Formats: sequence, structure tokens, C-alpha cells
Amino acid sequence: MQTQIGSDISLAIEYLKLGDVVAIPTETVYGLAGNALDEEAVLKIYEAKQRPRFNPLILHVSSFDQFSLYASDIPESCRMLAAKFSPGPLTYLLPKQDSVPDLVTAGSEKVAIRIPAHPVTLQLLQQLDFPLAAPSANPFGYVSPVTAQHVFDGLQGRIPYILDGGPCAVGLESTIIGFENNEIILYRHGAIPQESIEEVTGMPVRQMSHTVQIDTPGQLKSHYAPRIPLWLGDVDSLMQVHHGKKIAVISFAKRYVYPEPAFQFILSPSADFHEAARNLFKVLRQIDTLDADIILAERFPEAGLGRAINDRLQRAQAVFKNS
Ligand code: TXA
Ligand code: MG
Repeated sequence: MQTQIGSDISLAIEYLKLGDVVAIPTETVYGLAGNALDEEAVLKIYEAKQRPRFNPLILHVSSFDQFSLYASDIPESCRMLAAKFSPGPLTYLLPKQDSVPDLVTAGSEKVAIRIPAHPVTLQLLQQLDFPLAAPSANPFGYVSPVTAQHVFDGLQGRIPYILDGGPCAVGLESTIIGFENNEIILYRHGAIPQESIEEVTGMPVRQMSHTVQIDTPGQLKSHYAPRIPLWLGDVDSLMQVHHGKKIAVISFAKRYVYPEPAFQFILSPSADFHEAARNLFKVLRQIDTLDADIILAERFPEAGLGRAINDRLQRAQAVFKNS
């Protein structure tokens, strides 16, 4: 199969209506989209990504009105959050309606749903009479794509079309939350910080721990992995431990004396979380093209987007710790 990159929304619609999968831009990362109500199309998503079928997919819709077509028991706190953050990088886990195939939710009674804030994809969704199921458009286990070219590099030959909407403005996946009694449950740190969710709802946010799951997706540890080992922590001490190896460094704002500049990646010289988030996945991919042996990454401050950045770095580290 030839994979084309272009900005033709009508062509993307044609493919989607035929039950094919198309990569779409969102503000977070590129998604690999198919008709969520068509099981054949959903199967193609799992296949193209080589993703295990026990890991469910997020439903993408164009407006909050559509939530009730696919989800039920929508709590007031969800409405409040949607009024503030949707369209945007917040995903809500809600009881699903029968209209959503079990294949999308991997058998769960809950569906994850969000409204992406990308003008191209919103326009696309508005012209469809079905929602799109879309995981990040990377081969399973690799770093999420934040440009059309990244998608091409990973899925070339497996999908017909990549709808190019430019580089992703946020660069980090959506935050995933659920609702329980008087609590918000955080399933995945992401582009909307926990603090903002607490502020809008006035409700406490409880973090789902990483060790409980396998059945609580969002949560496979072996995600976001570059090709070489990554260690997270105090870079100066890590450099001593890994002395003699060819080291690449990822820092928030600091420049180190060693290694040479081409192997140092400062995510935001002005220490801005948004800029750092936008650069993270791009940098992980860049480092994969160098001949480094190992990546040493600073731990970010545990606040705001820093938590989501640490989460992704930790998962990248976990792959090598566990393997
Ligand atoms: O920003 C994003 O969320 C991007 C863009 C494309 O929208 N999507 C994305 O999808 O990151 P994905 O599949 O790479 O990650 C979504 C996570 C998965 O780890 C999945 O396990 C979890 O959401 N998830 C989806 N549906 C779920 C459900 N019904 N119950 C629990 N977790 C769910
Ligand atoms: Mg993903």
C-alpha cells in the first residue's frame, strides 16, 4: 500500500467512509483514525499499529452534544470540565452506550471520549456521521508522532493517507480522567494538568496507581520508548555511573559542561513547561538518529505539565528496567 501525505479533507473523508484508516492531526499528537462504529475499520487500526486488542481506543467527536450518543450518566463535573477544556486535550471515561462496539473499549463498560482541538480534524469530524476511534498514530510501544512525517516514518505502507495539519501544538497526549462518587480519577497524566481539573471542579483528583492495572489501560508501562536505554534522575550523578558511554542528555533548561552540544537537548531554554512538552517527543526521535548509547534525562518539577513529562520519561525508562 502506498501512503500519501496531504491536506485534502475530502479525500480523508472518502477513505474513512469506505472503512479505511487515516492518520489525523490533533493538538496533542497525531491519531490513527477509523469509523468507531465499524468493527472492520477498528480492527484495521489495531492491525496497522500492531496494538494488542485489550488496549482500548479513544472516541473522537466534534461537540459535547454528541457525548450522550455514546456515553451515559454524564456527571455535572464532566459538563463543567467540558465547558472549560473541550475542544481540548482532556479525555473523559464514562459508561458506554450500546452504540459503541466492544472492540473500541476492549470489552470495558466504559468509553473514553474527547473533542480534539485541531481546526482540520474538527472540520473533518463535523462532516462525518460517525465518531472516530483513534489511538496515537505510532507503532505500538514507540514514541507518539507529533508531525505527519513522524507518522509516515512509523506507518508507511500500512495506511493509505496521512492528513497533514502541521506540527502538533501541544505535543503530549490528552489527560484521561474518570468520575467516581465525589472524586475525579486520573488515569493518565497529560496536557491538562491535575491542578486545573481540581480548580474547575473543586473536587479532589485521585491518581490511579501504575501497579494495579493491565485492565486499566492508559497504563501500559512500556510506552513512549526510544530505541536506546533512558535513565531519569540527577544527570550529574548518572553521568558518573555511565562514564565511558556515549551519552545524550535531555534537560529542562540547563546546559551541561558535557557532552558536546549536538548530544544535549534542552527542552525549553526559558524553562517553560508548554515549550518543553512540545519538544519532548521530537527530541526522543532525534536522539534515536544519533549514535548515542544511552539517554540521561532530568526529572522535571512535579507540578503542572511537569508531571506528564515525568510520566512519559518514566515509562521510557521502565521499558529498559523491565527488559
Ligand atoms: O491525546 C490523545 O489522547 C491522543 C490523540 C490521538 O487523541 N490519543 C491517544 O490514544 O493517546 P492512545 O490510544 O495512544 O492512548 C489512549 C489511552 C490508551 O492507553 C488506552 O488504554 C486508554 O487511553 N483508554 C482508551 N479507552 C479506554 C477505556 N474505555 N477504558 C480505559 N482506558 C482507556
Ligand atoms: Mg499511544
